[in-house]
Amino acid sequence: MRKPFIAGNWKMNLNHNEALSFIKDLSLRFNNKNGITIAVCPPFTSIRSVALAIEDEKFKSKDFNIKIGAQNMYFEKSGAFTGEISADMLNTLGVEYVIIGHSERRVIFKEDDELINKKIKAALSNGLKPIFCVGESLETREKGNAVEFTLNQVRAGLDLISPDEMAQITIAYEPIWAIGTGKTATPEDAQQMCNSIRSKIEALYEKNVAENTVIQYGGSVKPSNISEIMKMPDIDGALVGGASIKTDDFLALINY
Ligand code: PGA
Repeated sequence: MRKPFIAGNWKMNLNHNEALSFIKDLSLRFNNKNGITIAVCPPFTSIRSVALAIEDEKFKSKDFNIKIGAQNMYFEKSGAFTGEISADMLNTLGVEYVIIGHSERRVIFKEDDELINKKIKAALSNGLKPIFCVGESLETREKGNAVEFTLNQVRAGLDLISPDEMAQITIAYEPIWAIGTGKTATPEDAQQMCNSIRSKIEALYEKNVAENTVIQYGGSVKPSNISEIMKMPDIDGALVGGASIKTDDFLALINY
């Protein structure tokens, strides 16, 4: 059985102080009635203090089980890579997840499938669980190539990843045209793509691997549309940007 998984991608939002206030506020009103997996992905600068703040709150209430994710990492172990962060550096901070291949990394920072595949491998070999993002642009969708394009990203990103390693990977389908725009894919469109992704995984691996892979939808997910999205059979969770940095919204999302 796949456990629902909602992750907040804070992007370049919330400074160190704001991050700590967010966790404090969240802990005071925390409720996880669905018993889902929850993660927050702060900027690198607040990962350590967010991790400590969560540990502190968890000591008071065991239910406050929030995992930490990073938003990016580099695939090399160490060395002359100014400005980069390695998987090992994240692991030793208590980070469990890492977003890899987010469309903002692909488009703004020119990350390609090959680099993303290397990052996924490096994350896995350092005990991190990748949240591997895929999804098409509006132009690609309008040309009718959305499925082919997205499934190609899936195949390339998972090159030489073993079936066992697949158990550690979450796939996030995030159509670029729906990110931060207020335009959500209809639950049916999102379902159709997530179903195609699952079939692709079955073709690359086997049925069992496909059935156990957690697939999130991302792109303007908010309290008003989350429950419709979560009803879809192939959508197991959400990767949320804008609505994840306000505690009211984040609480509403996790209790969809
Ligand atoms: P959004 O971002 O929820 O603000 O659309 C989602 C994402 O980019 O992960």
